[in-house]
Amino acid sequence: MLENRHIVVGICGGIAAFKAAGLVSQLRQRGADVHCIMTEHAAKLVTPITFGELSGNDVTVDMFANINKWDVEHIALAKLADLFVVAPATADIIGKVANGIADDMLSTTIMATKAKVLFVPSMNTNMYENPIVQENIERLKKFGYEFVEPESGHLACNTTGKGRFPKLETIFDAIEKCLYGKGLLKGKKIIISAGGTQENIDPVRYISNRSSGRMGYAIARAAAMEDADVTLVSCTTALPVPAGVNIIYVHDARELDKAMNSCFDTCDAAVMAAAVSDYRPKVQATQKIKKEAHDSLTIELTQNPDILFGLGQKKKNQFLVGFAAETNDVIEHGKEKLKRKNLDMLVANDVAMPGAGFNVPTNIASLLYKDGTMEQYPKMTKEELGHIIVEKIAEGLR
Ligand code: C5P
Repeated sequence: MLENRHIVVGICGGIAAFKAAGLVSQLRQRGADVHCIMTEHAAKLVTPITFGELSGNDVTVDMFANINKWDVEHIALAKLADLFVVAPATADIIGKVANGIADDMLSTTIMATKAKVLFVPSMNTNMYENPIVQENIERLKKFGYEFVEPESGHLACNTTGKGRFPKLETIFDAIEKCLYGKGLLKGKKIIISAGGTQENIDPVRYISNRSSGRMGYAIARAAAMEDADVTLVSCTTALPVPAGVNIIYVHDARELDKAMNSCFDTCDAAVMAAAVSDYRPKVQATQKIKKEAHDSLTIELTQNPDILFGLGQKKKNQFLVGFAAETNDVIEHGKEKLKRKNLDMLVANDVAMPGAGFNVPTNIASLLYKDGTMEQYPKMTKEELGHIIVEKIAEGLR
């Protein structure tokens, strides 16, 4: 995904500087050409040799060191970069760039680049929350600089709070957005459901299905990449939440119904990728059912609300997307469902086909539209299909 991309990584003197080693290594493994610039303080925490080895390129610290490969090195790197990632970004570099200060190699190169700059702030909570730092961040955002929010948790100063270096996957989501996002859903609000509902039998047992949630998560990730305001209503906790996505965790169909409906009126698009149980146990025992009490057990089921149908009834201008997982006559069933549920688009797939449907990384889908048209796609990853679905939603909202 990062082949032929030139990425300049700026490493500042925060204690998380050692975590930038993992980032640089992963960037290179994913195909990027990586160049590191370290501040003098960073070079005191981790040696430039580490970053030189991991990136496969010379590391620059000193503005005036004699590296004869480049004529004017800060200009050369500034021009070469497709993207700048400043990780960890300290209060110091944020303050410098926000105020136009260019007094070392890193700040000077950032000032000289036209590439996007992504800051990954990581510092003590009090420093991060300092109104001066926050104002600098807001100022930089206004100028188009990008940020990854730090995580909350244990910090090196032995406190707990916001300021931790984010997970690499979160940083990579933001990198992809900077490099490939086209802002197709800027200013749009989208809600997406994902995963299989769990309908309680008793406090320890439930009825569910094989849905992993991957398709819904892939759509959420693609929508966030296109700058949408994304809320993901998830029935699973097993997957990492994509960067910049608001998450609501739910358990069963009734909770999912409530969550989707609470967001629906103000959204521009809604995608029901969740596999909702059509039925739930009529009585949900409040205590664990004991086998000693029953030789055989019959569980009576009652129907769950059809959430998508309900959204279709109340929809105004929203672009509404449903899924149809079928094992036969996929297109016929899909067309019928699209009409009955009053949808704008339906993603139909034959879950009996190898490489499609539940709990696999790929899917084979047809997209059916309200006007009767249809597009059939070959087998692809759920991530790829997620981007196509998001592009179609953006077209539909235009
Ligand atoms: O009718 P069927 O269950 O096959 O329709 C599938 C679509 O409807 C999916 O988009 C699924 O998320 C949604 N659905 C729902 N509420 C249900 C069952 C399915 O919203 N109770």
